Amino acid sequence: MPSLKIIALPATLLYLLFTTIIVLTKGGLTEDNIRQIIRITAASSMLLFSLTFAASSLLHFFCTEYWQALMQARRRLGLSFALSHTVHLLAIIALVEIAYGGDYLQLGDIVGGSIIYLFIFAMAVTSNDTSVTLLGAKNWSKLHKTGSYLIWVGLFGIYLEIALETHALRYWLCAIFGISLLLLRVSAFWDKRINA
Ligand code: HEM
Repeated sequence: MPSLKIIALPATLLYLLFTTIIVLTKGGLTEDNIRQIIRITAASSMLLFSLTFAASSLLHFFCTEYWQALMQARRRLGLSFALSHTVHLLAIIALVEIAYGGDYLQLGDIVGGSIIYLFIFAMAVTSNDTSVTLLGAKNWSKLHKTGSYLIWVGLFGIYLEIALETHALRYWLCAIFGISLLLLRVSAFWDKRINA
């Protein structure tokens, strides 16, 4: 756990590289394989985002060295999430090129997803102390808070939508997990206010 900060990015890179290679060795760049990579990267993004999103609340409620290490690794985990979701985007581009002949309109409404991507990239490039100084702590915090909640809506909104459509247990579990994360954040927020 103390080295989480050091291993987060390389471990994510290796995970993405190996899973992509494993999927692609089974038949190459087919539509099914690309869709599988999209689902795999959505899952890795969910895990990395959840750790980042819950870190400060977990530290607030359970002030142990483990959660302190998680809090210290938060920026790297956020960057790892951005890396994972960049692969999600590359797989979407490959899907459009291979399955839809380059016609992006076939993806349906991509406005919401594109806005979330702008936030993800803005958050990634400002995940450093220099950006905090340049933007000012208040603006920096606004950008990262708004982005985090939009990502939460994007990720768990999709899982909830699929759960309602397919009734598949794993999608219900993802949606319930997302709601628990939000409850954890809200509880920590009120607890801090009450005890301030
Ligand atoms: C313009 C932007 C985006 C496009 C075009 C897009 C496209 C897709 C497509 C086509 C799938 C279905 C793959 C399949 O199962 O066949 C998918 C799945 C998914 N995407 Fe994206 N996506 C976008 C952005 C995002 C963002 C910003 C998030 C979250 C922050 C996200 C999270 C997910 C999730 C959670 C799934 C479900 C994975 C599963 O079925 O297990 N996507 N996306």
